[in-house]
Amino acid sequence: MNWDDAGWADERADPLSRPGTMPETDIIDLLMRQHTRIRELVDEVERYRGAERRNALARLTKEISIHEAAEREIVHAYARHRLAGGASIVAERLKEEDEAVRLLHGLGGLDPGSPEFAAGFERFRTALFAHFAAEERYEFSLLRAAMSEEDRRTMAVSVQAAETMAALAAEPAPGTPPAEGLGAAGDRRGFPTV
Ligand SMILES: [Fe+2]
Ligand SMILES: [Fe+2]
Repeated sequence: MNWDDAGWADERADPLSRPGTMPETDIIDLLMRQHTRIRELVDEVERYRGAERRNALARLTKEISIHEAAEREIVHAYARHRLAGGASIVAERLKEEDEAVRLLHGLGGLDPGSPEFAAGFERFRTALFAHFAAEERYEFSLLRAAMSEEDRRTMAVSVQAAETMAALAAEPAPGTPPAEGLGAAGDRRGFPTV
C-alpha cells in the first residue's frame, strides 16, 4: 500500500490490510502503546546491569528500529501529505528521530557499566522522550482529528503487518547466533547494532 498516494483509501484490497486478517485497533492507540512499551524498555536498561543490561539494550534497539521504520514508511508519509503544515511537522519529527538514533548508535561501542554509557544513555533517553512527546502532541493529535475511524483502523492493520514482517526479517537464520541476526536487521534499517 502506498500511503503517499492520494488514492490510498481505495487500495484496501491488500490482503494484509483486510479487516479480520490481523488484530485491529486504532493507529494512534497502537503507536501510543508502543511508546509506553519503549519507555518501559528504557527503564529496564537503566535498572539492569551487566549482560542483562546489554540484552535489554538489544531489545530496546530492535523495538525502536521497528517502530520508527513503520512510522516513517506509513504514518509520517500520510501526515506529510494530509495534515495542514504536514511537511514541516514531519520534518521536525524526522530530525528528532535522527538525533535519538544517533545518540543510541553512540552507545554501541561503550561498556554498559561505564560512566560514559550512563551519560550517553541519559542524553539518548532525553532526546527519545522529547521526540515521543512532540510526536504525540503535534502529530498524533492532528492525525486522530483528521482521520476517520475506519482509516485509523486500516492504518493500524497496515502498521502491524509491516512490523510483523520487519520482526520476522530480524529473526536470525537457523544456525545464526541471535546477536548477529539482530545486528543484520539493524544494519538493513539504518539503525545501530548493539
Ligand atoms: Fe517517531
Ligand atoms: Fe513514535
